Amino acid sequence: MRTLIIGSNGQLGRDLMTMAAARGWAAVGGDLPRCDISDPASLQALVEGAGDLQVVINAAAYTAVDAAESDAATAFAVNRDGVAALADLCRGRQLPLIHVSTDYVFDGRQARPYRPDDPIQPVGVYGHSKAEGETQLRRRWQQHIIVRTSWLFGRHGANFVRTMLRLAGERDTLRVVDDQVGCPTYAGDLADALLTIAGHALDRRSGWGTYHFCNPPAVTWWAFACRIIDMARDREPLAVRQVVPISTADYPTPAARPAYSVLDCGSLEERFGITRRSWEAGLAEMLRDMNVPH
Ligand SMILES: NC(=O)c1ccc[n+]([C@@H]2O[C@H](COP(=O)([O-])OP(=O)(O)OC[C@H]3O[C@@H](n4cnc5c(N)ncnc54)[C@H](OP(=O)(O)O)[C@@H]3O)[C@@H](O)[C@H]2O)c1
Repeated sequence: MRTLIIGSNGQLGRDLMTMAAARGWAAVGGDLPRCDISDPASLQALVEGAGDLQVVINAAAYTAVDAAESDAATAFAVNRDGVAALADLCRGRQLPLIHVSTDYVFDGRQARPYRPDDPIQPVGVYGHSKAEGETQLRRRWQQHIIVRTSWLFGRHGANFVRTMLRLAGERDTLRVVDDQVGCPTYAGDLADALLTIAGHALDRRSGWGTYHFCNPPAVTWWAFACRIIDMARDREPLAVRQVVPISTADYPTPAARPAYSVLDCGSLEERFGITRRSWEAGLAEMLRDMNVPH
């Protein structure tokens, strides 16, 4: 299977590249600075130079949630216009496109897990730009699968787990938000699911639409931080002595975030036969890989 993975240097993209190769697929990567998806000519050059492709996976995005509030032009150029240009290219070549989106398209006011067809209502610029990227893709190319995910962490790049581990090594006390609920998602598990979905897209040429993938169970950032520290501390001495739960109001950020963004993944499990393990199992794997035995 010859796959183009866009955003191949990112947190998710790097796991996609490794895991595609492990499946014996020929994975061609594209990312900044060589390929800029907000520049149609550069995107076209990437697709044309990638050989005889069978499927495209887009993991590229402008993901700086807070910076997006003051840099909406770039967020929309990448997350909306870049996706639109990619959709057109894929339609022109009849290439299925698997695209990754976010729980931040929801406003977080719901009291039960969000299903893929629940109304979207983003509360920040990043969420708006991702929501419009979804809309562009749906309008332009029918052979797409959008997979929304949440609270990504993994071996590569900056993420909450790596930040907690660093701070726990430096500080006596950590203060972590305890009134936002979501599902942490291990990038390796999402990458595996996306590759399985890409295989289905190719085989069946059906199942197009929008799905959700995250690792269970739902937690707050504070509960997640406590578990990260407990698991890391089993063998690694850490400076941190207490993790204090705080409210969102006590930790103001430029971008508002949904208070509740748990994703219902039932349709993805059913359609693609994917089973989801707990985020704790992914976290254990990540810590093992980082040589922090648990
Ligand atoms: N991280 C999360 O918690 C989270 C949660 C829900 C959904 N998601 C979604 O999951 C996907 C993967 O996220 P991630 O955490 O892997 O993000 P990431 O680590 O920021 O990776 C995104 C990659 O895209 C690249 N990129 C940015 N602008 C680009 C452009 N104009 N052209 C080409 N490449 C560009 C980035 O390059 P630079 O690093 O050089 O900018 C980076 O390598 C994204 O669609 C994101 O919206 C993420």
